[in-house]
Amino acid sequence: MNNKIFELRSRFNFYRTLETALKYNEEESDYYTTLNGDWNFLFLDKIQDIPTAFLDGKYEEISWDKIKVPSHMEFEGYGTPIYTNFDYPFPVNPPHVPNDNPTGLYYKKINYNKKLEKQILRFDGVESVFEVWINKEKVGNSQGSRLMTEFDITNNLYEGENEIAIRVSKWSKGSYLEDQDMWWLSGIMRDVSILEEVNITDVKLTPYTEEKKWYVRVNIKKEKKDFGKISVYYAGEKLFDEVLNSDEELIEIPKPYLWTDETPNLYTFIITLSDKIFIPVRVGLREIKIIDDLMCLNEKPILFNGVNRHEFHPEKGRNLSRNDIKAELIQIKKHHINAIRTAHYPNIPYFYDICDELGLLVIDECDIEAHGFPEEITPAKNSEWKEEFVSRGLRMVHRDYNHPSILIWSLGNESHFGENFIDMAQSIRQLDSTRLLHYEGDRENEVTDMYSTMYTSIAEMEERASKKIIKKPHILCEYGHAMGNGPGGLKEYQELFERYDSIQGGFIWEWKDHGIYEKSTNNYKYGGQFNESVHDGDFVLDGLVLPDRTPSPGLLEYTQIIQPITFYFSKGKLILKNNYQFKTMDNLVVAVEIISKDGLIFEKEYPIEPIPPKKYSDILYMNPKIKEHSYITIKLLVNKTDRIFSKGEVFAQKQFPYTSQTEELNEISSEVINQRLQINTTHFSTTFNTITGNMCSLIKSNKELLQSEMNLSLSRQMISNDREIQKIWNEYFLNEMYSYCKSFEYVQNKKGIVLFVNQYIAPPIVSWGIQVHIIIWISSSDIEYQVKGWFDGDSPRELPRIGFELPLNYTVKEIEWFGKGPGESYSDSQESNFMGYHKKKVEEWTFPYLIPQETGNRSHVSYSKMILDNGEEITMKSETGMNINVIDLVKEQNQNYRHLMNQKVKNKGIRIDIAMRGLGSNSCGPLPLEKNIVYNTPFSAVFSLI
Ligand code: GAL
Ligand code: MG
Repeated sequence: MNNKIFELRSRFNFYRTLETALKYNEEESDYYTTLNGDWNFLFLDKIQDIPTAFLDGKYEEISWDKIKVPSHMEFEGYGTPIYTNFDYPFPVNPPHVPNDNPTGLYYKKINYNKKLEKQILRFDGVESVFEVWINKEKVGNSQGSRLMTEFDITNNLYEGENEIAIRVSKWSKGSYLEDQDMWWLSGIMRDVSILEEVNITDVKLTPYTEEKKWYVRVNIKKEKKDFGKISVYYAGEKLFDEVLNSDEELIEIPKPYLWTDETPNLYTFIITLSDKIFIPVRVGLREIKIIDDLMCLNEKPILFNGVNRHEFHPEKGRNLSRNDIKAELIQIKKHHINAIRTAHYPNIPYFYDICDELGLLVIDECDIEAHGFPEEITPAKNSEWKEEFVSRGLRMVHRDYNHPSILIWSLGNESHFGENFIDMAQSIRQLDSTRLLHYEGDRENEVTDMYSTMYTSIAEMEERASKKIIKKPHILCEYGHAMGNGPGGLKEYQELFERYDSIQGGFIWEWKDHGIYEKSTNNYKYGGQFNESVHDGDFVLDGLVLPDRTPSPGLLEYTQIIQPITFYFSKGKLILKNNYQFKTMDNLVVAVEIISKDGLIFEKEYPIEPIPPKKYSDILYMNPKIKEHSYITIKLLVNKTDRIFSKGEVFAQKQFPYTSQTEELNEISSEVINQRLQINTTHFSTTFNTITGNMCSLIKSNKELLQSEMNLSLSRQMISNDREIQKIWNEYFLNEMYSYCKSFEYVQNKKGIVLFVNQYIAPPIVSWGIQVHIIIWISSSDIEYQVKGWFDGDSPRELPRIGFELPLNYTVKEIEWFGKGPGESYSDSQESNFMGYHKKKVEEWTFPYLIPQETGNRSHVSYSKMILDNGEEITMKSETGMNINVIDLVKEQNQNYRHLMNQKVKNKGIRIDIAMRGLGSNSCGPLPLEKNIVYNTPFSAVFSLI
C-alpha cells in the first residue's frame, strides 16, 4: 500500500541543545519545522470537482486562494458549519458518503534543509480525511480527525525546494464515528510540522511504585544498540545521570516528589544520544489504582469535581492556540475544577502539557461516537468496523502515553456497546495497564473499571450506592446540564458524592457554549443559523462559560460548591478543614465581614496557620457583640500570587447567620485518660469515649448525670396504630442498633474543643445501617451537636423516629419548655396544642393509655429544661426545633411490653428527636399521610445541651 504512515508511538520531540530541551517548547526546537502559516488553497463544494491539474501535480495551473493553517475551512469563509446533536447530516449509508463532499486543496512550496537521518511529517489533526503528496508523489492518506498521523517522508523530501499538496474532505468513513454533539467542521485544524529524527522510534516512561519506592521504567524503541544516557531533572536542577544499556531500564527516584492535581510536581527526563540530540519527556510520579473498590490516586480515593470540555473558540472552532488553552485551563483551575473529560476526542497535544503542569486529572476520550445509529446496527457490533475502533484507541494511547495528568482512557462516547469495544479495551490494556478504562456505554462493566452514567438522578444514584448494587465505583461522566440558565441542584449532587465513598464525583456538561461569533452582527450563532437543513438549534449552547469565557452564574455556583475547604461555624467560632488530600493550605488569610440590614457592621482580617491536607485549622474566635440579626461572611483570600491566583483573590468563602454570644467563654481543660476524652469547664465536665465517639459522662455539681452513653436510636414503644409496620420494623431489628465509630478527631484550644465523629450504626443480622457525622462544639457555655446522617444498605423505608437518647442516673421530675404544648403532640396530631412556654410535672407528662405505648412527645421545642430529682437540670436549645420526651428505658428496651402493663417503672432518661413519625389510624384504617412519615432519607439537626 502506498501509505507511509509511521508506526504508532508517543508524541515527543528531538532538540539540538540541552537548554531548549529543558524548556520543553517544541516550537523552539531546531529539529521542528512548522508548516503552519499561509497555504495556497482551493475550495470545492463537491469532491468530483477536483481539477485534474491537481491530481497531475500541475499546481501552477490552478488559481489558488489563500488560507491559514491551522484553521477550519468554515471559519475562513469556505463552506458552512452544521450543528447536529446526533443526527448525521448526510445519508446513513456506511461506509460511503455523498459525492457532494466539501473539499479543500492545500498547496505549499517549502525550502528544506535536512539535519538528521530521518524526516517525519506530523499532522496533529485534520477533519475528517486527507491525502498528502510531496513533490507530486503520494505519501499517504489518513483519517481520525482528532488523532495524530505521522508519515515517514525521508525519501520524499529533497534538500532545498519541495512541493506539498494536501486534499482534505469534510465527509469520510470516519465521519460515521465522529458523530459528537458539536459543529461539523473541516480542514487542517491542528499543527502540521516536519520533525528531524534519528533512529529512535518511541520513548515511553512509566512511573510506578513498589514497597514505598518510586521508579520510572524507561522504554526506548531503537534499531541500533546505543541507547545513550538519561538525565533526571527536577525544578530546573539535574539530579543524576544514568547510562542506558538496553531498551528497558528501571530508574529509581530517591526522595520522590509525587504528582497529583494538587501538587503537580514534574520531573524532566532527558535522553541524550549525542551532544546534538536530546529528547525531553516530562514525568509525574503518580499511581492510579483501584483499592478497596475505589479509584485512588497515590492511594487516596479520588473525587472528580470535573467538567466536560470540548475544544471550542468562537472565532476559530476547534483550532485553539497555545495561549487559548493555557488561559482556559488556568481559569478552570481557579474555579476549583480538578478534572476534565476531553469530551469527546483526544485534544490538542499542548492541552496535556498544561494539565500536567497545572494539575488537572484527565479522562482522555477516544474519537469515537456513533450516536446516530440505532443499537441493532451500531458499528460497535459490526466486525467491519473493528479495526477502526481498535486503531483509534491505540492511536490515542500511544500518542498520550507519557502524560501523568491522564488517569483514565475513555473508549469513546454514545456508541452503544459491542465486540469492537471489547477488542479495543483489550488492546489498550495490553499497551497500558497502568491506567483505568472508562466508557459510559458499557452498562454491564464488561471492560471498564468504573460504572459511569449520565444525568442520573440523585435518588437513583443513592439507591445504587446505598444498596451497594455495583462493586465498581460510580461516576457521572456527565451531569448538571449547563444549557442557558443552569444547572440547578448541584449542591445536592455534591452532598451525595460526600455521602458515598463509592460515588467518586462527576463532570458537568459542559464547560463552554459553542456559539460562533459573527462580526457583522456582533453576535453568537447557533444551530440552524447557517441555513443548515438538519440541525439541533441552541442545544450547542450548554456551557458554564459563554463562548468568550465569561463565567455564567452556573460556574460561580459550581465553584462555591466544590471549593476545597469546609467551613465549620458555631456562635462566633470558626474551624476550617482543608479538603485537599495532598496539599497543605498555606498562603491564605481569613477576612471576615458582618452585615446586617444596615450594611457592613464589622470587618477584620485574621491570619491563619497553614492547614495540612485533610486536617482542621485551629479554632478562630470572631465574636464581636452585635445585637441585630446579621450574617457573617468569611472569605479566604490569597496572600501571595501564584500560577493560578493573584494576591487578594477570593479562594473560598462561606456565609452563616450570626448571633453574638453574650457570655464570655471561660477557659476549659481536657485530657485523654483510658481512651476517654475528659473536658472540664467552669460549669460542667463531660467525657467522650474516643472508641465509640459517644458522650459517656456529663457531670454537674460533682454528680454524674449520665447512666450510660448518649446514643442515636430509631425505635419507639409501639403504638396501637403501628401494629402493622412494627412487624416490618422488627425484621429490621430497629431496636437493637450497634454503633461503630469510624473516626474520632478533635481540635482544641484554651476556650473550646470541637469533636468530629463519624459513626456507623447498624443492627445485627440484616444488612443496613446509618452513617452519622456529628460535630460537637464544647465550650464553657454549652455542648452543641451538629448532626448529619443517612441510610445505607437495605434500610427500612419508614422509621418510627430518629433521635438521641440520654440514659440518666436520675429521674426527671419536672419539665419546662418552649414549643407545642401543654399536651403531647405528633406531626399529625398537634392542632390542640399551641406554641408557648409550658411547665409540667413528670406525672402529668404522658397519657395513661390502657395499653402502654409511645406517649408524651412534645414537638417544635426550641428550648427545654429537664429538672432532675437531684436538683440538677439539663437544658436543650435548638433554633430549628426538636422533639423531646422523657423515656422509660426499661419498657423501651422490651418489645414484649404487654406484661409490663401495670408495672410502674421509673423514667430514666430523656429523648431529643430529630424526627418523629405521625400516628395515623392503621390499627384499623390508613397509615399516616406521607408528609407525616419519617423516611430513610438524609437527616440533619443542630441543638445544644447543658
Ligand atoms: C450527552 C452527550 C453530550 C451532549 C449532552 C447534551 O448525551 O454525551 O455529547 O450531547 O448529552 O448536551
Ligand atoms: Mg451524542
